[in-house]
Amino acid sequence: MSVLNKKTIEDLDVKGKRVLVRCDFNVPIQDGKITSDKRIQESLPTIKYLIENGARVILCSHLGRPKGGEFEAEFSLAPVAARLSELLGKEVKMAKDVVGESAQALSKELQDGDVMLIENVRFEKGETKNDPELSKKFAALADIFVNDAFGSAHRAHSSTAGVADYLPSAVGYLIQKEISFMGQALEAPKRPLVAILGGAKVSDKIGVINNLLEKVDTLIVGGGMAYTFFAAKGYKVGTSICETDKIDLANEMLEKAKARGVKFLLPVDNKVGKEYKPDTESMIVDSDKIPDDYMGLDIGPKTAELFAEAIKGAGTIIWNGPMGVSEWENFAHGTIAVAKAVAESGAISIIGGGDSAAAVQKLGFADKMSHISTGGGASLEFLEGKVLPGIDCIDTK
Ligand code: 3PG
Repeated sequence: MSVLNKKTIEDLDVKGKRVLVRCDFNVPIQDGKITSDKRIQESLPTIKYLIENGARVILCSHLGRPKGGEFEAEFSLAPVAARLSELLGKEVKMAKDVVGESAQALSKELQDGDVMLIENVRFEKGETKNDPELSKKFAALADIFVNDAFGSAHRAHSSTAGVADYLPSAVGYLIQKEISFMGQALEAPKRPLVAILGGAKVSDKIGVINNLLEKVDTLIVGGGMAYTFFAAKGYKVGTSICETDKIDLANEMLEKAKARGVKFLLPVDNKVGKEYKPDTESMIVDSDKIPDDYMGLDIGPKTAELFAEAIKGAGTIIWNGPMGVSEWENFAHGTIAVAKAVAESGAISIIGGGDSAAAVQKLGFADKMSHISTGGGASLEFLEGKVLPGIDCIDTK
């Protein structure tokens, strides 16, 4: 079923209503201080819309992976409430519990335009089990449920999915943006659709490759996973990362691409190094000439040109995974070349979350991309074509 017809906050009358908003405030915290507030910033458009439209806003999220069943200070969302208060320029009241007395009392006191945050939903044991009893308690706090936690949309938990069984629901602006870019790219892309996949392992991306081979015009594979494909083609890969138990599968993928008329591009040359070290002795070799004692650590210059040429003509680009060990300057050239080609392509460019998003941000190309997904696991599952419970549960228009 299409994800493009889900209700959004603008489809609901929120004035005077208590709106429970599931956010993904799973932010890095060190010594009680938030070290990146990106996820909080990304939740602001939805929260501001609700404030401006007179809703009584009850925010909730998980943070980390507490053992569940009790309050644990290191996983408290109190620092998030403080940061939100600063960003919104108004007090965000912090409940002392999740669905207990404190949360209930605060939720009843809310006036139109007020905002509160309940404690880490994973302090409740039922959360990760999607316990209907807990879902009902979440629902009892509010009149409407809004899911805006794209990063957690692949989790079927009480606060991401279960609660929607008991309340009218809609997605917030963040999920709306994620599904309009990624859903559109998969369901009705501007063609040619070019997917670029990288990262270390084929095994991490099997589902994504399989699903994308049914949709794309061109599939570009770089990064560590290319070496398993080289092995499938009968090339020697030296000491490169290679999943020998996935070679047959790599062959099947190459066959599937051929059968579907998908252009499958692999590196034609590589930057290889003696050891897995940033300053290791390195050289450029063709893909069928990797010496026995060298490992592939980046794509080579001929490959960068070949990939850039394919990227140039794209209508839509989906990119997930770096082309080499992009955190080391000496082996970041391939990833930089691809990022540059994507940035200059004029195509709709979508960057899957996790490593690829971090690489694009670090290399300074973030503002040149149409969309950088906020979900790591969630965006991978989306690209695999899986149903995300946190989106599936939302009412349709
Ligand atoms: C994430 O950071 O990927 C999301 O917040 C999900 O967190 P989880 O893997 O603990 O469910």
